[in-house]
Amino acid sequence: MTPIIEMRRIDKHFGAVHALRGVNLHLMPGEILGLVGDNSAGKSTLMKVLTGAYQRDAGEVLIDGKTTHFTSPQDSRDLGIEMIYQDFALCGNMDVGQNIFLGRWPRRAGLFVNRTRMYAEAQDVLMRLKVDVNSVFQKVESLSGGRQQSVAIARAISFSPRVIIFDEPTANLSVMATERLLETMAELKRQEVAQIIISHRLTDIFAVGDRVMVLKRGQAVGDRYIRSSSEREVLELIISGTPDDALTAEQALQGAA
Ligand SMILES: Nc1ncnc2c1ncn2[C@@H]1O[C@H](COP(=O)(O)OP(=O)(O)OP(=O)(O)O)[C@@H](O)[C@H]1O
Ligand SMILES: [Mg+2]
Repeated sequence: MTPIIEMRRIDKHFGAVHALRGVNLHLMPGEILGLVGDNSAGKSTLMKVLTGAYQRDAGEVLIDGKTTHFTSPQDSRDLGIEMIYQDFALCGNMDVGQNIFLGRWPRRAGLFVNRTRMYAEAQDVLMRLKVDVNSVFQKVESLSGGRQQSVAIARAISFSPRVIIFDEPTANLSVMATERLLETMAELKRQEVAQIIISHRLTDIFAVGDRVMVLKRGQAVGDRYIRSSSEREVLELIISGTPDDALTAEQALQGAA
Protein backbone atom coordinates (compact mmCIF):
# COMPACT_ATOMS: atom_id res chain seq x y z
CA MET A 1 0.00 0.00 0.00
CA THR A 2 1.29 3.50 -0.87
CA PRO A 3 1.48 5.94 2.03
CA ILE A 4 -0.92 8.87 1.60
CA ILE A 5 1.95 11.05 2.90
CA GLU A 6 5.65 10.44 2.86
CA MET A 7 8.31 12.91 3.95
CA ARG A 8 11.92 12.01 3.21
CA ARG A 9 15.05 13.48 4.76
CA ILE A 10 13.46 16.83 5.57
CA ASP A 11 15.81 19.61 6.60
CA LYS A 12 14.80 23.07 7.79
CA HIS A 13 16.83 25.94 9.23
CA PHE A 14 15.67 29.20 10.78
CA GLY A 15 18.87 31.24 10.71
CA ALA A 16 21.23 29.47 13.07
CA VAL A 17 18.49 27.13 14.38
CA HIS A 18 18.56 23.72 12.70
CA ALA A 19 14.89 22.93 13.33
CA LEU A 20 14.65 19.68 11.32
CA ARG A 21 17.45 17.28 10.47
CA GLY A 22 16.82 14.54 7.94
CA VAL A 23 13.36 13.68 9.23
CA ASN A 24 11.39 10.84 7.61
CA LEU A 25 7.67 10.42 8.16
CA HIS A 26 4.98 8.30 6.57
CA LEU A 27 1.24 8.15 7.06
CA MET A 28 -0.94 5.37 5.70
CA PRO A 29 -4.53 5.94 4.48
CA GLY A 30 -6.91 6.02 7.45
CA GLU A 31 -4.07 5.88 9.96
CA ILE A 32 -3.86 8.06 13.09
CA LEU A 33 -0.27 9.04 13.84
CA GLY A 34 0.73 10.75 17.07
CA LEU A 35 3.63 13.17 16.83
CA VAL A 36 5.31 13.84 20.16
CA GLY A 37 8.43 15.42 21.60
CA ASP A 38 9.62 18.13 23.91
CA ASN A 39 8.99 21.85 23.31
CA SER A 40 10.96 23.08 20.27
CA ALA A 41 11.50 19.52 19.01
CA GLY A 42 10.27 20.60 15.57
CA LYS A 43 6.76 19.08 15.52
CA SER A 44 4.88 22.15 14.30
CA THR A 45 7.65 23.00 11.85
CA LEU A 46 7.54 19.51 10.32
CA MET A 47 3.77 19.80 9.80
CA LYS A 48 4.07 23.31 8.37
CA VAL A 49 6.63 22.02 5.90
CA LEU A 50 4.10 19.33 5.00
CA THR A 51 1.26 21.80 4.32
CA GLY A 52 3.43 24.31 2.47
CA ALA A 53 3.17 26.96 5.22
CA TYR A 54 6.98 26.67 5.44
CA GLN A 55 9.38 25.83 2.64
CA ARG A 56 11.84 22.99 3.29
CA ASP A 57 15.58 23.48 2.74
CA ALA A 58 16.04 19.88 1.64
CA GLY A 59 14.13 16.63 1.35
CA GLU A 60 11.05 15.39 -0.42
CA VAL A 61 7.32 15.37 0.26
CA LEU A 62 5.23 12.77 -1.56
CA ILE A 63 1.44 12.62 -1.60
CA ASP A 64 0.01 9.33 -2.89
CA GLY A 65 3.55 8.50 -4.00
CA LYS A 66 3.96 11.65 -6.09
CA THR A 67 6.51 14.36 -5.30
CA THR A 68 4.97 17.72 -4.45
CA HIS A 69 6.21 21.30 -4.13
CA PHE A 70 3.60 23.13 -2.10
CA THR A 71 4.20 26.87 -2.00
CA SER A 72 1.29 27.63 0.36
CA PRO A 73 -1.29 25.77 2.50
CA GLN A 74 -3.78 26.35 -0.32
CA ASP A 75 -1.77 23.90 -2.47
CA SER A 76 -2.02 21.14 0.15
CA ARG A 77 -5.70 21.96 0.78
CA ASP A 78 -6.33 21.38 -2.92
CA LEU A 79 -5.00 17.83 -2.40
CA GLY A 80 -7.23 17.27 0.64
CA ILE A 81 -4.82 18.09 3.48
CA GLU A 82 -6.06 20.33 6.32
CA MET A 83 -4.14 21.53 9.34
CA ILE A 84 -5.49 23.11 12.50
CA TYR A 85 -2.60 25.26 13.66
CA GLN A 86 -1.49 25.52 17.27
CA ASP A 87 -2.15 29.28 17.10
CA PHE A 88 -5.36 28.69 15.13
CA ALA A 89 -5.86 31.56 12.75
CA LEU A 90 -9.43 32.79 13.04
CA CYS A 91 -10.89 36.25 12.49
CA GLY A 92 -12.06 37.38 15.90
CA ASN A 93 -14.27 40.17 14.64
CA MET A 94 -16.27 37.84 12.39
CA ASP A 95 -18.89 35.41 13.59
CA VAL A 96 -18.67 31.63 13.85
CA GLY A 97 -20.44 30.94 10.55
CA GLN A 98 -18.29 33.40 8.64
CA ASN A 99 -15.14 31.88 10.10
CA ILE A 100 -16.06 28.34 9.14
CA PHE A 101 -16.62 29.43 5.56
CA LEU A 102 -13.94 32.12 5.41
CA GLY A 103 -12.70 32.60 1.88
CA ARG A 104 -15.36 30.38 0.30
CA TRP A 105 -18.69 31.81 1.37
CA PRO A 106 -21.50 29.96 -0.41
CA ARG A 107 -22.80 32.09 -3.24
CA ARG A 108 -26.14 32.33 -4.95
CA ALA A 109 -26.15 33.13 -8.66
CA GLY A 110 -22.37 33.55 -8.32
CA LEU A 111 -22.78 37.07 -6.97
CA PHE A 112 -24.08 37.29 -3.45
CA VAL A 113 -23.14 35.34 -0.37
CA ASN A 114 -25.97 32.96 0.43
CA ARG A 115 -26.14 33.72 4.12
CA THR A 116 -28.97 31.37 4.96
CA ARG A 117 -27.13 28.42 3.49
CA MET A 118 -23.82 29.41 5.07
CA TYR A 119 -25.23 29.56 8.60
CA ALA A 120 -27.26 26.38 8.12
CA GLU A 121 -24.15 24.51 6.99
CA ALA A 122 -22.05 25.99 9.80
CA GLN A 123 -24.69 24.84 12.29
CA ASP A 124 -24.64 21.40 10.71
CA VAL A 125 -20.86 21.01 10.99
CA LEU A 126 -20.90 22.13 14.62
CA MET A 127 -23.70 19.70 15.46
CA ARG A 128 -21.80 16.85 13.86
CA LEU A 129 -18.82 17.82 16.02
CA LYS A 130 -21.14 18.10 19.03
CA VAL A 131 -19.70 21.56 19.70
CA ASP A 132 -21.92 23.62 21.93
CA VAL A 133 -21.22 27.04 20.50
CA ASN A 134 -24.42 28.88 21.41
CA SER A 135 -24.89 30.49 18.06
CA VAL A 136 -23.27 30.60 14.67
CA PHE A 137 -23.89 34.37 14.79
CA GLN A 138 -21.61 34.84 17.78
CA LYS A 139 -18.39 36.76 17.23
CA VAL A 140 -15.42 34.41 17.53
CA GLU A 141 -13.52 36.80 19.84
CA SER A 142 -16.33 36.43 22.40
CA LEU A 143 -15.74 32.66 22.64
CA SER A 144 -13.41 30.93 25.10
CA GLY A 145 -10.10 29.55 23.80
CA GLY A 146 -11.45 26.01 23.78
CA ARG A 147 -14.56 26.95 21.79
CA GLN A 148 -12.46 28.92 19.30
CA GLN A 149 -10.41 25.78 18.82
CA SER A 150 -13.59 23.84 18.14
CA VAL A 151 -14.54 26.40 15.48
CA ALA A 152 -11.12 25.97 13.85
CA ILE A 153 -11.62 22.19 13.86
CA ALA A 154 -15.14 22.55 12.42
CA ARG A 155 -13.71 24.73 9.67
CA ALA A 156 -11.06 22.12 8.79
CA ILE A 157 -13.56 19.26 8.76
CA SER A 158 -15.98 21.20 6.57
CA PHE A 159 -13.48 20.90 3.71
CA SER A 160 -14.00 17.09 3.84
CA PRO A 161 -10.24 16.47 3.80
CA ARG A 162 -8.46 13.13 3.34
CA VAL A 163 -5.82 14.11 5.90
CA ILE A 164 -6.24 16.28 9.00
CA ILE A 165 -3.34 17.51 11.12
CA PHE A 166 -4.18 18.60 14.65
CA ASP A 167 -1.48 20.67 16.39
CA GLU A 168 -2.07 20.45 20.16
CA PRO A 169 -5.85 20.26 19.78
CA THR A 170 -6.58 19.36 23.39
CA ALA A 171 -4.28 21.91 25.06
CA ASN A 172 -7.19 24.31 25.73
CA LEU A 173 -9.98 21.77 25.95
CA SER A 174 -11.90 20.65 29.02
CA VAL A 175 -12.09 16.96 29.90
CA MET A 176 -15.52 16.74 28.23
CA ALA A 177 -14.46 18.61 25.11
CA THR A 178 -11.34 16.43 24.85
CA GLU A 179 -13.52 13.31 24.97
CA ARG A 180 -15.70 14.71 22.21
CA LEU A 181 -12.69 15.53 20.07
CA LEU A 182 -11.27 12.03 20.50
CA GLU A 183 -14.68 10.65 19.48
CA THR A 184 -14.65 12.89 16.43
CA MET A 185 -11.20 11.60 15.50
CA ALA A 186 -12.38 8.01 15.83
CA GLU A 187 -15.41 8.82 13.65
CA LEU A 188 -13.17 10.49 11.02
CA LYS A 189 -11.01 7.37 11.07
CA ARG A 190 -14.08 5.24 10.34
CA GLN A 191 -14.59 7.52 7.32
CA GLU A 192 -10.97 6.68 6.38
CA VAL A 193 -9.61 10.16 7.04
CA ALA A 194 -5.90 9.87 7.91
CA GLN A 195 -4.85 12.06 10.85
CA ILE A 196 -1.76 13.36 12.58
CA ILE A 197 -2.12 14.60 16.13
CA ILE A 198 0.58 16.56 17.91
CA SER A 199 0.08 16.40 21.65
CA HIS A 200 1.95 16.49 24.92
CA ARG A 201 -0.81 14.30 26.39
CA LEU A 202 0.28 10.75 25.69
CA THR A 203 -3.02 9.51 27.11
CA ASP A 204 -4.89 11.16 24.21
CA ILE A 205 -2.52 9.65 21.67
CA PHE A 206 -2.81 6.21 23.22
CA ALA A 207 -6.61 6.57 23.24
CA VAL A 208 -7.00 7.16 19.47
CA GLY A 209 -3.64 6.58 17.79
CA ASP A 210 -2.38 3.68 15.69
CA ARG A 211 1.25 4.72 15.79
CA VAL A 212 3.40 7.33 17.48
CA MET A 213 6.54 9.06 16.25
CA VAL A 214 8.98 10.88 18.51
CA LEU A 215 10.96 14.00 17.56
CA LYS A 216 13.85 15.33 19.57
CA ARG A 217 15.86 18.45 18.72
CA GLY A 218 14.79 18.22 15.09
CA GLN A 219 15.50 14.52 14.66
CA ALA A 220 13.24 11.48 14.59
CA VAL A 221 14.20 9.32 17.55
CA GLY A 222 11.55 6.62 17.55
CA ASP A 223 8.46 5.18 15.95
CA ARG A 224 6.15 2.73 17.74
CA TYR A 225 2.84 1.00 17.13
CA ILE A 226 0.50 1.97 19.95
CA ARG A 227 -0.79 -1.59 20.35
CA SER A 228 2.71 -2.88 21.08
CA SER A 229 4.05 0.03 23.12
CA SER A 230 3.28 1.88 26.34
CA GLU A 231 3.15 5.49 27.51
CA ARG A 232 6.17 4.73 29.64
CA GLU A 233 8.20 3.49 26.66
CA VAL A 234 7.25 6.55 24.57
CA LEU A 235 8.08 8.88 27.46
CA GLU A 236 11.46 7.17 27.65
CA LEU A 237 12.04 7.88 23.92
CA ILE A 238 11.02 11.54 24.37
CA ILE A 239 13.60 11.89 27.13
CA SER A 240 16.46 9.74 25.90
CA GLY A 241 15.69 8.44 22.41
CA THR A 242 18.45 8.62 19.78
CA PRO A 243 18.32 8.75 15.96
CA ASP A 244 19.47 5.10 15.98
CA ASP A 245 16.19 4.10 17.66
CA ALA A 246 14.30 5.70 14.76
CA LEU A 247 16.44 4.03 12.14
CA THR A 248 15.94 0.60 13.64
CA ALA A 249 12.18 1.17 13.77
CA GLU A 250 12.15 2.31 10.15
CA GLN A 251 14.00 -0.79 9.02
CA ALA A 252 11.61 -2.95 11.01
CA LEU A 253 8.61 -1.22 9.39
CA GLN A 254 10.12 -1.67 5.93
CA GLY A 255 10.81 -5.32 6.72
CA ALA A 256 7.18 -5.78 7.78
CA ALA A 257 5.82 -4.12 4.62
N1 LIG B 1 8.95 30.97 12.15
C1 LIG B 1 10.04 30.66 12.86
N2 LIG B 1 11.11 31.49 12.90
C2 LIG B 1 12.21 31.19 13.60
N3 LIG B 1 12.36 30.06 14.32
C3 LIG B 1 11.34 29.20 14.33
C4 LIG B 1 10.12 29.45 13.61
N4 LIG B 1 9.29 28.41 13.80
C5 LIG B 1 9.93 27.56 14.60
N5 LIG B 1 11.17 28.02 14.93
C6 LIG B 1 12.17 27.33 15.75
O1 LIG B 1 12.26 25.99 15.33
C7 LIG B 1 12.38 25.10 16.44
C8 LIG B 1 11.23 24.10 16.41
O2 LIG B 1 10.04 24.78 16.71
P1 LIG B 1 8.61 24.11 16.64
O3 LIG B 1 7.61 25.18 16.83
O4 LIG B 1 8.51 23.30 15.41
O5 LIG B 1 8.64 23.14 17.90
P2 LIG B 1 7.48 22.24 18.52
O6 LIG B 1 7.99 20.86 18.61
O7 LIG B 1 6.22 22.46 17.77
O8 LIG B 1 7.36 22.82 20.00
P3 LIG B 1 6.09 23.08 20.97
O9 LIG B 1 5.79 21.77 21.64
O10 LIG B 1 6.58 24.09 21.93
O11 LIG B 1 4.95 23.58 20.13
C9 LIG B 1 12.40 25.98 17.68
O12 LIG B 1 13.73 26.21 18.04
C10 LIG B 1 11.72 27.26 17.21
O13 LIG B 1 12.18 28.36 17.94
MG1 LIG C 1 4.40 23.29 18.21
